[in-house]
Amino acid sequence: MVRDATDAVAGKLGGLQPRAAVVLGSGLGFIADEVRSAIRIPYSAIPGFPQPGVAGHRGELVAGTLAGVPVIAQSGRFHLYEGHPAQTAALPVRVYAGLGIRMLILTNAAGGIRHTFHPPTLMLIADHINFMWRNPLVGPMEEGEERFPDMSEPYDRELRALAREVAREQRITLEEGVYAGLLGPSYETPAEVRLFRSLGADAVGMSTVPEVIVARARGLRVMAVSTITNYAAGLTTATLSHEEVIAAANEVADGLAHLVKGVLARI
Ligand code: HPA
Repeated sequence: MVRDATDAVAGKLGGLQPRAAVVLGSGLGFIADEVRSAIRIPYSAIPGFPQPGVAGHRGELVAGTLAGVPVIAQSGRFHLYEGHPAQTAALPVRVYAGLGIRMLILTNAAGGIRHTFHPPTLMLIADHINFMWRNPLVGPMEEGEERFPDMSEPYDRELRALAREVAREQRITLEEGVYAGLLGPSYETPAEVRLFRSLGADAVGMSTVPEVIVARARGLRVMAVSTITNYAAGLTTATLSHEEVIAAANEVADGLAHLVKGVLARI
């Protein structure tokens, strides 16, 4: 499956060697439109890639240059809450690794747990907690992966320093913290949010963790940024809706696009 998908994508690249893959979260699909000399590869042309089922997520890889760097932008991801196994959520990352890509940039939407976070804002992910209780490495080992990969630095220290530098220079507010990945699709209860805070989480979301695990198993360097779209449940009296999450993501999407492009321009 991984080999077929990788061959299908490689066949469309026409010699382009992307240096980084950029996974676009809710409301960030527009970054794919900024890719120059774009080669669009619909998921229907890639074996094993399902059609994405969530509003705000398209279903294509867009290869080309962003900030002058050859990249693949992934517009539409596969969530566990849609019923996909963790292996499917992480399949695109295995394809990127197979294409020789060494760097992965992930974006997502998340609820803010830390009291000092005021949404909408951006949070550089420093570390994560896997509350999905799923792992894409379960099962027979894939070629090029270890059985027990090290996870002591899931989010690359140098890339994080670079992101903070770009944010400072461009005056983009950038928090930093620990992302808790949950299965979803229901949002958390206030009691759950209190629990996650006591366990060291600064934000909660429903993606990213499976992709990061495979990226590390393949030795890719990872940078990830959450758009903190809302206060997590119980921090305010507000209720949560996906539409509001998308609207909040749109408010800081420009800053996030500048941050991603600023980092790309310096790698
Ligand atoms: N919880 C989980 N996932 C999310 C949230 C949240 O509050 N906001 C955006 N994605």
